[in-house]
Amino acid sequence: MSYTIMITAPDFDPKGMALLNEMGAKTVIAPAYSTEEELAKLAADNEVDGIIVRVGQVTKQVIDASPKLRVLSKGGIGVDNVDVDHATAKGIVVCNTRYSNSQSVAEHALAMIIGAYKDLIRLDQDTRNGGWAKAVYSGTELAGKHVGLIGYGGNGRALATMLKSLKCKISVYDPYLGHNADFTGVTRCESIDDFLGEVDVLSVHCPRTKESLNMIDKDQIAKMKTGSVIVNCARGGIVNEDALLDGLTSGKIAAAGIDVFLTEPPAKDHPFFKLENIIVSPHVAGVTDESGEVSGVMSVENVYKILDNKPIDLDCVVNPDALPKR
Ligand SMILES: NC(=O)c1ccc[n+]([C@@H]2O[C@H](COP(=O)([O-])OP(=O)(O)OC[C@H]3O[C@@H](n4cnc5c(N)ncnc54)[C@H](O)[C@@H]3O)[C@@H](O)[C@H]2O)c1
Repeated sequence: MSYTIMITAPDFDPKGMALLNEMGAKTVIAPAYSTEEELAKLAADNEVDGIIVRVGQVTKQVIDASPKLRVLSKGGIGVDNVDVDHATAKGIVVCNTRYSNSQSVAEHALAMIIGAYKDLIRLDQDTRNGGWAKAVYSGTELAGKHVGLIGYGGNGRALATMLKSLKCKISVYDPYLGHNADFTGVTRCESIDDFLGEVDVLSVHCPRTKESLNMIDKDQIAKMKTGSVIVNCARGGIVNEDALLDGLTSGKIAAAGIDVFLTEPPAKDHPFFKLENIIVSPHVAGVTDESGEVSGVMSVENVYKILDNKPIDLDCVVNPDALPKR
């Protein structure tokens, strides 16, 4: 059976696209960052069966637009641009490609931790500008330092594997993992307060939810060691931007690495951009050639598993209540 599949941005992974063609799909490509009205119109005009969600908001209006819609498939893990509750109420399955970019995100977070910890931005700028700080500079090793991880899913665990090889001490806060989850080589904490005052580095790897939004705010930063480093490669706003700005300006926080912003793209005059002790990137921690291929192919496979009522890895189903009863 031939299905109509909308992709909410051009330049989809070539292997994912080839698989769609092989499956005989009619594809509808929405321009990047289409508005909800534009997405809804495309979905309605083409009566789409499935949407591969990339950028843009898949709201109630978009979900209601096509009477045939049965699956929303997101590459990567975060589905905060999808109205999951509404999809669930309508029996539309939302899936993701969990773990497809964990190695990529963990490498990016580690790069930011090392870049921030080693003051690479300032050293680079100073050397380019004619400085030669050799006589006055002394860095610090990351080896043996204490790292706190918030969220211990695919990304947190991949980062922990790397940090263990650097002989870091690792504390983890993830209240949703069962006690049979594997915490080998890390200390599981009941609350972030158990490690916040002791860590040299704090790295965030949980989804943005009502509970995690502003989880690291002014009060939490006040509890941290002076000179510590904060990295957020998860979602903007989990680390409150104003509080982080204050921390970086006062020196309480020595340096930060931020891949994600509360509003994306951020304003051109975002106050972070004036600081030398922050490394920023445009929400690309999970974007690599390798992860793009895996997640592109997986997101197409997930669409067909749902449309053809085939078994699917439940780790990749965001709203299992919407799965058709087999
Ligand atoms: N920057 C990027 O390019 C990029 C790429 C992929 C994922 N992400 C973000 O990183 C997050 C983590 O990705 P993942 O693949 O590890 O997801 P995952 O689902 O495998 O793991 C997330 C973990 O966070 C835990 N968690 C949920 N709420 C929490 C809370 N309030 N406090 C502490 N822990 C909590 C969950 O129990 C889970 O174990 C995603 O939700 C996504 O927002 C960003």
